[in-house]
Amino acid sequence: MIDKTTIDGWNAEFGNGSAASMLTWFLKEYKGKIALSSSLSVEDQLLTEMVVNIDAETRIFTLDTGRLFPETYDLIDRTAKKYNKEIEVFFPEAADIEKMVHDKGMNLFYSSIENRKLCCNLRKLKPLARAMKGLEVWITGLRREQSVTRVDMQMVEWDENNNLLKLNPLINWTEEEVWKYVKEHNIPYNPLHKKGFVSIGCQPCTRAILPGEDPRAGRWWWEDPDTRECGLHKR
Ligand code: ADX
Ligand code: SF4
Repeated sequence: MIDKTTIDGWNAEFGNGSAASMLTWFLKEYKGKIALSSSLSVEDQLLTEMVVNIDAETRIFTLDTGRLFPETYDLIDRTAKKYNKEIEVFFPEAADIEKMVHDKGMNLFYSSIENRKLCCNLRKLKPLARAMKGLEVWITGLRREQSVTRVDMQMVEWDENNNLLKLNPLINWTEEEVWKYVKEHNIPYNPLHKKGFVSIGCQPCTRAILPGEDPRAGRWWWEDPDTRECGLHKR
């Protein structure tokens, strides 16, 4: 565990600087023990570009729940090709999913929060634990603006659930800033964004939103806003 004083110090040091300078420092300091977890979101695509430019040997992994959009699968391959970089793909345990579907059906997530969390747990959280073996730091594309559940997140945090350091280099970025950077650097992104999808996760749990709607309104839309997290970022 890293003490709060050190973490507060990093937030003070890097909080007002650029995401790239903060990443440069951490990628060097924690080389071989740091990885980017990418959902192929526009934020994660931006971070992929930055990370590859700073240190192309950095691990980048994604959790394939088995229920992603075809456009997301396509983007995994397009991104790997563009950056000449493997995006490591972690799958759920087949036996876990077979049992869950046997007990509760294919689309159990619509019937209760408990079932939805079970599905997220087996399809995302358990594989995440495998992906994180040997890591001391994980990098995410979280932004404060994304959700009521994210407003008090910091750029550098201690992640108690996974027992490692969590870096959120884009925590202060606005959606406009992210898109500006992505367009300027010609970064590949999910074509679903042009069809009203803002935050994109699994296909059955994601839908397009209307202009002006909350960015997370398309995720688990049948639940209350304060439960709309898969558990990866539980605090
Ligand atoms: S979620 O909790 O609702 O699923 P969200 O889609 O906003 O999270 O993504 C926030 C961050 O969590 C991403 O920037 C990424 O770092 C990580 N993340 C989310 N889903 C995945 C995934 N399938 N694979 C890898 N990382 C992910
Ligand atoms: Fe299952 Fe939906 Fe969670 Fe994906 S987002 S793991 S389909 S409950």
